[in-house]
Amino acid sequence: VRQSSLVVVANRLPLDDNAAPDGACEWRRSPGGLTSALHTILEQTPATWVGWAGGLGPAPALPDIGSLRIRPVALSETELRGYYEGFANSTLWPLYHDAVEPPVFDRDWWETYQAVNVRFAQATAEVAEAGAAVWVQDYHLSLVPRYLRALRPDLLIGFFLHVPFPPPELFMQLPRRIELLRGMLGADLVGFQRPQAAHNVAQLAAKLLAAQSTDDQITLADGRQVRTGAFPVSIDVAEMQSLARRPSVVTRARQLRRDLGEPRRVLLSVDRLDYTKGIEHRLTAYSELLRDGRIKVRDTVVVQVAVPSRERVDSYRALRDRIEGEVGRINGEYGRVGEAAIHYLNQPFDRAELAALYRTADVMVVTPLRDGMNLVAKEFVAAREDGAGALVLSEFAGAADELQDAFLVNPHDVDGLKDTLLRAMRAEPADLRARMGAMREHLRGHDIIAWARAYLTALDDSGRLANQLP
Ligand code: UDP
Ligand code: G6P
Repeated sequence: VRQSSLVVVANRLPLDDNAAPDGACEWRRSPGGLTSALHTILEQTPATWVGWAGGLGPAPALPDIGSLRIRPVALSETELRGYYEGFANSTLWPLYHDAVEPPVFDRDWWETYQAVNVRFAQATAEVAEAGAAVWVQDYHLSLVPRYLRALRPDLLIGFFLHVPFPPPELFMQLPRRIELLRGMLGADLVGFQRPQAAHNVAQLAAKLLAAQSTDDQITLADGRQVRTGAFPVSIDVAEMQSLARRPSVVTRARQLRRDLGEPRRVLLSVDRLDYTKGIEHRLTAYSELLRDGRIKVRDTVVVQVAVPSRERVDSYRALRDRIEGEVGRINGEYGRVGEAAIHYLNQPFDRAELAALYRTADVMVVTPLRDGMNLVAKEFVAAREDGAGALVLSEFAGAADELQDAFLVNPHDVDGLKDTLLRAMRAEPADLRARMGAMREHLRGHDIIAWARAYLTALDDSGRLANQLP
């Protein structure tokens, strides 16, 4: 086994094993914010990434990506159901997102979740050099820090949660709350998107584990200390900027506008098809604005990219049915021949096409009910060198802490959402330029490299880790 001094462990690898129609293996970039964020920095870093390649059965042999080595972990059908679709995405995901969909508590899933976390810890223990730093990512792998510490006490272990950490009264619903908390606190440093999350964990550690805790340090009953803190994740700003500047992307953006019928305004949303993203609230707002004649199909076109996600999980399947029903109803009622009210795209797009879409939008509408960060909002800002375009952003996305110059909105308040959409559509270009300028300025100083540097320096302030970054 080739070993590394920096090992990243995440449920997903940056590449997805996407079986082609002829059965051949076809690699494509994995969906979602976590892989978007880590992919670009790690590609240029001598590290190993331990994770699942998206398929079933034995792990495929995977090529290195630049200087990044890939160590796949295989999942069986039963494991996929109990660990990924079950405990991770039907218990923790909804619970951690304010229970906007009721979390399901199933006793069998827990066993599988534990077993898979053990396997990830073992795979990591095999590839980590003596004294290496291991950076465990997200809610799928909450128990890995503790298991790994037991296997390899020599390692420096970090954990970062990309999703929100819920308020104590919600977390307390979890039947295995003590084990879960102990698992995460097996790390030396536990990082979150927002300071409130560190506060919640400090309170829970005091209550459930009799720890001495402050918002940045937890001393466990056995005397071991765990540091905590907020490290808001970001994007590769330079990459998105140069992509959006590319002549082929600029041409494509013009083409998209023509294809949409040269409307006065294009409203754009880009989400995984997930109930946390507030897609239904948004559709209600559009539908009422159309009904009340406050927007007209001829001048305002909505583009909704809703990337398929977790499609075997019941709540996701039900959501897709509801959304597609509602889009059909709105188009049926308000569309005309050659003029759809909503262009609904249930497919993933590559980064160049996304950059072209971001450039085409007059208003980017990001309305999650709860979101750890939301990188799409940051990507839109990075793509708008022209200083035009309005960002409507939910207060419940982590990104709202930083992008204060967006048109902030509470998506539960549909009337407020409608008014904010109209305000954003009618804003003066000078106002938009000022807002965009301020948000771009913030992003320049807070890109993905700054995030990784801040985290890794907090994990080990000798500079040994941060110096490996590009
Ligand atoms: N994304 C993509 N193709 C698509 C739609 C989205 O590559 O068709 C990417 C998008 O650019 C972003 C990520 O997926 O980097 C979504 O991250 P975000 O934090 O907004 O939400 P998440 O999916 O992680 O909940
Ligand atoms: C969110 C999670 C990630 C996850 C991504 C895509 O961003 O925080 O851990 O990878 O969604 O979801 P998926 O279930 O397809 O990995």
